[in-house]
Amino acid sequence: MERTFLMVKPDGVQRGLIGEIVARFEKKGLQLSAAKFMLLNQELAEKHYEEHKGKSFYEPLLAFITSGPVFAMVWQGDNVIALTRALIGKTDAIDASPGTIRSDFAVHTNFNLIHGSDSVENAEKEIAIYFSPSELVQYEHTIQRWI
Ligand code: RTP
Ligand code: MG
Repeated sequence: MERTFLMVKPDGVQRGLIGEIVARFEKKGLQLSAAKFMLLNQELAEKHYEEHKGKSFYEPLLAFITSGPVFAMVWQGDNVIALTRALIGKTDAIDASPGTIRSDFAVHTNFNLIHGSDSVENAEKEIAIYFSPSELVQYEHTIQRWI
Protein backbone atom coordinates (compact mmCIF):
# COMPACT_ATOMS: atom_id res chain seq x y z
CA MET A 1 0.00 0.00 0.00
CA GLU A 2 1.42 3.38 -1.05
CA ARG A 3 0.96 6.75 0.71
CA THR A 4 1.05 10.30 -0.55
CA PHE A 5 0.91 13.84 0.78
CA LEU A 6 -1.68 16.15 -0.78
CA MET A 7 -2.34 19.75 0.18
CA VAL A 8 -5.03 22.20 -0.93
CA LYS A 9 -3.03 25.42 -1.32
CA PRO A 10 -4.15 28.87 -0.06
CA ASP A 11 -5.91 29.68 -3.37
CA GLY A 12 -7.94 26.44 -3.19
CA VAL A 13 -8.96 27.19 0.39
CA GLN A 14 -9.94 30.79 -0.39
CA ARG A 15 -11.95 29.72 -3.43
CA GLY A 16 -13.96 27.25 -1.37
CA LEU A 17 -12.65 24.19 -3.21
CA ILE A 18 -11.58 21.97 -0.27
CA GLY A 19 -14.77 19.91 -0.46
CA GLU A 20 -14.72 19.62 -4.25
CA ILE A 21 -11.09 18.48 -4.24
CA VAL A 22 -11.46 16.02 -1.34
CA ALA A 23 -14.58 14.56 -2.99
CA ARG A 24 -12.58 13.61 -6.09
CA PHE A 25 -10.13 11.51 -4.06
CA GLU A 26 -12.95 9.97 -2.01
CA LYS A 27 -14.92 9.03 -5.12
CA LYS A 28 -11.80 7.51 -6.68
CA GLY A 29 -11.80 5.01 -3.81
CA LEU A 30 -8.65 6.20 -2.08
CA GLN A 31 -8.30 5.97 1.69
CA LEU A 32 -7.84 9.09 3.85
CA SER A 33 -5.21 8.65 6.58
CA ALA A 34 -4.88 12.14 8.04
CA ALA A 35 -5.94 15.75 7.49
CA LYS A 36 -5.03 19.09 9.04
CA PHE A 37 -6.17 22.68 8.41
CA MET A 38 -3.23 24.92 9.15
CA LEU A 39 -1.08 27.95 8.38
CA LEU A 40 2.46 27.22 7.17
CA ASN A 41 5.27 29.20 8.74
CA GLN A 42 8.40 30.14 6.79
CA GLU A 43 10.46 27.26 8.20
CA LEU A 44 7.91 24.61 7.24
CA ALA A 45 7.44 26.11 3.77
CA GLU A 46 11.21 26.10 3.19
CA LYS A 47 11.40 22.43 4.19
CA HIS A 48 8.55 21.51 1.86
CA TYR A 49 9.93 23.32 -1.18
CA GLU A 50 13.64 22.66 -0.49
CA GLU A 51 14.07 21.06 -3.95
CA HIS A 52 13.08 24.34 -5.65
CA LYS A 53 15.54 26.55 -3.71
CA GLY A 54 17.38 28.87 -6.11
CA LYS A 55 14.77 28.68 -8.87
CA SER A 56 13.17 31.89 -10.13
CA PHE A 57 9.77 31.01 -8.66
CA TYR A 58 11.08 29.88 -5.24
CA GLU A 59 10.65 33.12 -3.25
CA PRO A 60 7.19 33.96 -4.69
CA LEU A 61 6.19 30.32 -4.06
CA LEU A 62 7.15 30.59 -0.37
CA ALA A 63 5.27 33.90 -0.05
CA PHE A 64 2.21 32.35 -1.67
CA ILE A 65 2.16 29.10 0.29
CA THR A 66 2.45 30.97 3.63
CA SER A 67 -0.16 33.60 2.63
CA GLY A 68 -3.21 31.78 4.00
CA PRO A 69 -4.39 28.48 5.44
CA VAL A 70 -3.86 25.17 3.64
CA PHE A 71 -5.57 21.80 3.99
CA ALA A 72 -2.89 19.12 4.38
CA MET A 73 -3.74 15.44 3.90
CA VAL A 74 -2.32 11.96 3.71
CA TRP A 75 -4.04 9.46 1.41
CA GLN A 76 -3.26 5.83 0.75
CA GLY A 77 -4.02 3.21 -1.86
CA ASP A 78 -2.40 1.16 -4.60
CA ASN A 79 -0.43 3.49 -6.93
CA VAL A 80 -1.81 6.47 -5.00
CA ILE A 81 1.04 8.80 -6.05
CA ALA A 82 0.58 8.34 -9.80
CA LEU A 83 -3.21 8.23 -9.48
CA THR A 84 -3.46 11.48 -7.53
CA ARG A 85 -0.97 13.25 -9.82
CA ALA A 86 -3.19 12.18 -12.73
CA LEU A 87 -6.31 13.53 -11.00
CA ILE A 88 -4.50 16.79 -10.18
CA GLY A 89 -3.18 17.37 -13.72
CA LYS A 90 -0.07 19.05 -15.12
CA THR A 91 1.53 21.99 -13.25
CA ASP A 92 0.42 24.56 -15.84
CA ALA A 93 -3.38 24.60 -16.24
CA ILE A 94 -2.94 25.05 -20.01
CA ASP A 95 -1.28 21.62 -20.22
CA ALA A 96 -3.60 19.90 -17.74
CA SER A 97 -6.07 17.47 -19.28
CA PRO A 98 -9.76 18.39 -19.09
CA GLY A 99 -11.38 16.75 -16.10
CA THR A 100 -8.33 17.21 -13.89
CA ILE A 101 -8.48 19.54 -10.90
CA ARG A 102 -6.04 22.04 -12.40
CA SER A 103 -7.75 22.05 -15.79
CA ASP A 104 -11.20 22.40 -14.27
CA PHE A 105 -10.41 25.14 -11.76
CA ALA A 106 -6.96 26.73 -12.29
CA VAL A 107 -5.83 29.44 -14.72
CA HIS A 108 -2.29 30.39 -13.65
CA THR A 109 0.64 28.10 -12.72
CA ASN A 110 1.28 29.97 -9.49
CA PHE A 111 -2.37 29.49 -8.43
CA ASN A 112 -2.68 25.79 -9.22
CA LEU A 113 -4.76 24.89 -6.17
CA ILE A 114 -3.18 21.69 -4.90
CA HIS A 115 0.13 20.03 -4.19
CA GLY A 116 0.75 16.31 -4.66
CA SER A 117 3.90 14.32 -3.90
CA ASP A 118 5.74 13.15 -7.02
CA SER A 119 7.64 10.09 -5.72
CA VAL A 120 7.62 7.61 -2.85
CA GLU A 121 10.73 9.26 -1.42
CA ASN A 122 9.20 12.76 -1.50
CA ALA A 123 5.86 11.48 -0.18
CA GLU A 124 7.51 9.97 2.90
CA LYS A 125 9.59 13.14 3.41
CA GLU A 126 6.57 15.43 3.09
CA ILE A 127 4.32 13.28 5.31
CA ALA A 128 7.01 13.46 8.02
CA ILE A 129 7.20 17.27 7.71
CA TYR A 130 3.47 17.74 8.33
CA PHE A 131 2.35 14.79 10.46
CA SER A 132 3.64 12.79 13.41
CA PRO A 133 3.29 8.99 13.07
CA SER A 134 0.50 8.97 15.69
CA GLU A 135 -1.61 11.33 13.55
CA LEU A 136 -1.83 8.77 10.72
CA VAL A 137 -5.08 6.96 11.43
CA GLN A 138 -5.02 3.18 10.92
CA TYR A 139 -8.42 1.69 10.13
CA GLU A 140 -10.14 -0.77 7.88
CA HIS A 141 -11.56 0.96 4.80
CA THR A 142 -14.38 -1.47 4.27
CA ILE A 143 -15.06 -0.70 0.58
CA GLN A 144 -11.45 -1.47 -0.46
CA ARG A 145 -12.34 -4.95 -1.75
CA TRP A 146 -14.62 -3.31 -4.33
CA ILE A 147 -12.03 -0.81 -5.59
P1 RTP B 1 3.32 20.69 -6.67
O1 RTP B 1 4.74 20.34 -6.22
O2 RTP B 1 2.81 21.94 -6.03
O3 RTP B 1 2.38 19.53 -6.57
O4 RTP B 1 3.36 21.04 -8.23
P2 RTP B 1 4.12 20.28 -9.36
O5 RTP B 1 4.81 19.05 -8.84
O6 RTP B 1 3.14 20.10 -10.48
O7 RTP B 1 5.18 21.36 -9.80
P3 RTP B 1 6.67 21.63 -9.26
O8 RTP B 1 7.58 21.60 -10.41
O9 RTP B 1 6.98 20.74 -8.09
O10 RTP B 1 6.55 23.14 -8.76
C1 RTP B 1 6.04 23.44 -7.48
C2 RTP B 1 5.11 24.62 -7.58
O11 RTP B 1 5.86 25.78 -7.91
C3 RTP B 1 5.09 26.64 -8.75
N1 RTP B 1 5.77 26.79 -10.03
N2 RTP B 1 5.81 27.91 -10.66
N3 RTP B 1 6.32 29.92 -12.56
C4 RTP B 1 6.78 28.72 -12.77
O12 RTP B 1 7.41 28.43 -13.75
C5 RTP B 1 6.50 27.70 -11.77
N4 RTP B 1 6.90 26.45 -11.84
C6 RTP B 1 6.42 25.88 -10.73
C7 RTP B 1 3.75 25.99 -8.94
O13 RTP B 1 2.85 26.47 -7.96
C8 RTP B 1 4.05 24.52 -8.68
O14 RTP B 1 2.91 23.82 -8.28
MG1 MG C 1 6.12 19.13 -7.15
